[in-house]
Amino acid sequence: MAALSDAAGPSTSHLFYQTRQRRPQVDRAEGIYLWDVGGRRYLDGCSGAMVSNIGHGNPRVLAAMQAQMQQTTFAYRLHFENAPAEELAARLATLVGGDLDRVFFVSGGSEAVESCIKLARQHAIAIGQPQRYKVISRYPSYHGSTLGALALTGYTPMTAPFGPMLQAAPQIPAPTVYLDRDGGDAAAAGRRYADLLEQEILRQGVETVLAFIMEPVGGASTGALVAPDTYYPRIREICDRYGVLLIHDEVMCGAGRTGRFLAAEHWGVVPDLIALSKGLGAGYAPLGAMVASRRVVEPVLDAGGFVHGYTYAGNPIACAAGLAVLGELLECDLMGNAERMGLRLRQGLERLKARHALVGDVRGKGLLLAMELVADRFSMTPLPPERMAAARLTEIALTHGLILYWRRTRGGLRGDHVMVCPPLIINGDQVDELLELLDAALSEWALEMSRA
Ligand SMILES: Cc1ncc(COP(=O)(O)O)c(C=O)c1O
Repeated sequence: MAALSDAAGPSTSHLFYQTRQRRPQVDRAEGIYLWDVGGRRYLDGCSGAMVSNIGHGNPRVLAAMQAQMQQTTFAYRLHFENAPAEELAARLATLVGGDLDRVFFVSGGSEAVESCIKLARQHAIAIGQPQRYKVISRYPSYHGSTLGALALTGYTPMTAPFGPMLQAAPQIPAPTVYLDRDGGDAAAAGRRYADLLEQEILRQGVETVLAFIMEPVGGASTGALVAPDTYYPRIREICDRYGVLLIHDEVMCGAGRTGRFLAAEHWGVVPDLIALSKGLGAGYAPLGAMVASRRVVEPVLDAGGFVHGYTYAGNPIACAAGLAVLGELLECDLMGNAERMGLRLRQGLERLKARHALVGDVRGKGLLLAMELVADRFSMTPLPPERMAAARLTEIALTHGLILYWRRTRGGLRGDHVMVCPPLIINGDQVDELLELLDAALSEWALEMSRA
C-alpha cells in the first residue's frame, strides 16, 4: 500500500506534524469506516484517537451543525450568550449530577486540564490558602501537550525535552497492579497504591498540595489501565482528609466510552473537577469542557472572577455539535452498546491472547480496551524497545484495513500496547470483523517478531 512508511527526506507538502511519516489522504468516512482517495476502506478500530465515539458522518449531528451555522457561527462570550452553549452546559450538569453543575467550555483536552488546574489554584487563593500550589499526578499518565498539562504528564519522551521549562509536579506510580504478579490480592494492592498518594501529600507538606489528577480509566499512556475497585474510594478519602481537590481527567474515558457517561461512575466516586473532551465533540467539532463543583467555582467568582479563557470557548457550532452528539449517545443507548460490545470485543481479544503468545494482557472497560504486547507473558517482560513492536503491529494492521493506536506502556520508555477502541455504534458483526482483521495482523506481526 502506498504512503505508509516514513519518507526518506523532505516532502513536497507544506504540512508537518511530529515526523516525516506520510499517510494516505482520507476521502470520506461513514459509520465505523473511512476510505482513502485510492478507494481503500479502513475499519476505525480506535475512533481516531478515541474521539469518534458516535462514528463518522452522523446525519443528525451534521444537520444540527448546519442549522446552527445558518444562524450564527461565532458570537464572542464577552458580548453574547448563545443557546447551544447554555443548553449543553445544562445537559452536562444533569448528566454529571450532584453539585458538579458549573461548566466551562474549551476546545480540547489539554485546555480542559489547564482550566482545572487554574481553577483549583484560584480556589485555593479565594479561600485563603494561597500556599497550596502543587498538583500531584501519576506515572505513567497523559494529560495534554500544553506546558501546564504536560507538567502533569508521566510520559518521558514527551516531557523530557521541556523539563527545564516545566513546573515540576510530584508524581506517584499509577496502579499498575497487573504487573506486580506477586500473588497478592487486588483489593490490598489497590489500597497500597492509593496510600502512595497520602505518603506523597505528607512528603510535600499538606499545606502546599492543591490537587491530585488522575485518569479514572487510563488512556493511551497506560493502555486502558483500570485500578482495583478499592483504589478509587480510598483516593477520594485521602483527598478529603487533606483538603486536596480531586481532578478526574475524563478526556478519553468520559462521554460514554466505558459504558457510563463518566468512567468514575463505575466506582461511584465523585471528584471536584472533571476534564472532558474527545467524545464530547466526537470528531465533529473541537470541543472540551471543565465540569466543576459549584463549591469550587462560587468562591472564585465571589473573589473577583476566574482569570482564564480561550477565544473559541462556548463556540455555538461546537456546542450545537456537542448537543447533537449527546442526543445520539442517549437516545440510541450507545453507552449500553459500549458495555455490550465492549464485552464481546474483550472476549474476542482474550481469545486472540490465547492464540498469540506475545499478547501479555487485555484490559480496559466498555469500549476503552487495550492489548499489551510482551516478550514473555508470565514475567511480563517487555519486547526490546528498538523493535518498535506496537508501532509495527499498527502499521501491519493498517495494511489489513484496520486502524489501531499504539503507545509505549511504561512511561513511554519501554513496553508496547495497542488501543482497540472502535466507535460506540459498532455492532456484533463489525466487532467480529475487527477481530478477524486483528488476528490476521497479529499473525503477520508475530512472524516478523520471531525473525531476529
Ligand atoms: C486523558 C487525556 N487528557 C488530555 C488529553 C489532551 O487532549 P487534547 O489532545 O485534545 O489536547 C488527552 C489526549 O489524548 C488525554 O487522553
